[in-house]
Amino acid sequence: MASFTLTVNQQPRTVSVAPETPLLWVLRDSLHLFGTKYGCGMGLCGACTVHLNGVPVRSCQLPVSAVRHTPVTTIEGLDPAGRHPLQQAWCDHDVPQCGYCQAGQIMAAAAFLKQNPAPTEPQIDEAMAGILCRCGTYLRIRAAIKDAAKASGGAA
Ligand code: FES
Ligand code: FES
Repeated sequence: MASFTLTVNQQPRTVSVAPETPLLWVLRDSLHLFGTKYGCGMGLCGACTVHLNGVPVRSCQLPVSAVRHTPVTTIEGLDPAGRHPLQQAWCDHDVPQCGYCQAGQIMAAAAFLKQNPAPTEPQIDEAMAGILCRCGTYLRIRAAIKDAAKASGGAA
């Protein structure tokens, strides 16, 4: 065990865990931030996506010892009021089915729109291709991302 002080959703959080513990389990088990989901545990599905200094990462693959000085944002911290343009668009399009993959989808989309505020449909599809949805909500995800881009001033 070792003590780590992380910055999660702009708050300092201290945890005592083994250095190799994946960030995903620190978020869920130590910090009780249950929005980030465990899907495959192998870096394949994207359900566990969070932002590390604004960059989307798969938290199941990241040992906590590697993130101690880098700000982490989870779905709970994307917008304190839950009104990020993507969250609004997700509601408008009724995107989720079972919901399991959706935090990862939104976190991946948020990082993508920061890089490309006015994406084309093929660019959206390419950016989101690695975040799997067993319920097949891909068309609604694409539509919601286009709307969020428009709402944020992009010309999707
Ligand atoms: S749970 Fe991390 S990529 Fe699937
Ligand atoms: S909404 Fe069910 S896995 Fe994506």
